[in-house]
Amino acid sequence: MKIIVTEDYRSLSAKAFEIMKMAVNENPYAVLGLATGTTPLGLYRSMTEDHRENRTSYAHIRAVNLDEYIGLSQDHPQSYAYFMRENLFKGLDIEAENTYIENGTAQNAEAECERYNKLLENLPRDIQLLGLGSNGHIAFNEPGTPFGSDTHVVDLTPNTIKDNARLFKDISEVPNRAYTMGIRQIMQAKQVLILASGENKADAVYNTVCGGVTEEVPASVLQLHPNCILIADREAAGKL
Ligand code: F6R
Repeated sequence: MKIIVTEDYRSLSAKAFEIMKMAVNENPYAVLGLATGTTPLGLYRSMTEDHRENRTSYAHIRAVNLDEYIGLSQDHPQSYAYFMRENLFKGLDIEAENTYIENGTAQNAEAECERYNKLLENLPRDIQLLGLGSNGHIAFNEPGTPFGSDTHVVDLTPNTIKDNARLFKDISEVPNRAYTMGIRQIMQAKQVLILASGENKADAVYNTVCGGVTEEVPASVLQLHPNCILIADREAAGKL
């Protein structure tokens, strides 16, 4: 794993943008694996600015997201589908039909996982962007998730529900289940870019990089990926 430590969140986002832009420039038909959350927001802002100012085109890009809350429709303001439209897609020329995410209101959860697994088989990711949970999760793969997992339904841990409550009016509104891409599928991406910012990620960064490869720290599996870059700002890298 290549580790880049930046001075602050701004330079973390700038570095992440450089890598993402290179992937898009090298292959205008690239499949981007994308994440929600607070960490990629600076990167997404740079991507939309760059599109506006330099006309970098996403017309042929496909975007595949990691995860979605169960029970929220794609128009629900806290759904990840909505997040992606608001924070990235509406600022690019990407076609809506080239953006993919699990359907949080699917009638049959098992069939929905199957559908997403097939879709992922057909859309191998050129680059997979990840945030890092404070407990070491990647996507919604919580500690203890088998490294061989595919898309599945997760019961979110109290820790993750608490972390995510800041985006809801009240913690009781945070869904307690979600769909997530599995760890096996994250590892299939040609390149992985994982971002971590802030002091509350310092333990997770330490365990990801310096601990053993263990299912108790899902992100530690990335030590085994042949082309993974972790960018951490100084606070997140504080325990390295
Ligand atoms: C989001 C996702 C999560 C987040 C992680 C970090 O699609 O899969 O794993 O990346 O929880 O979230 P932030 O960036 O909000 O700290």
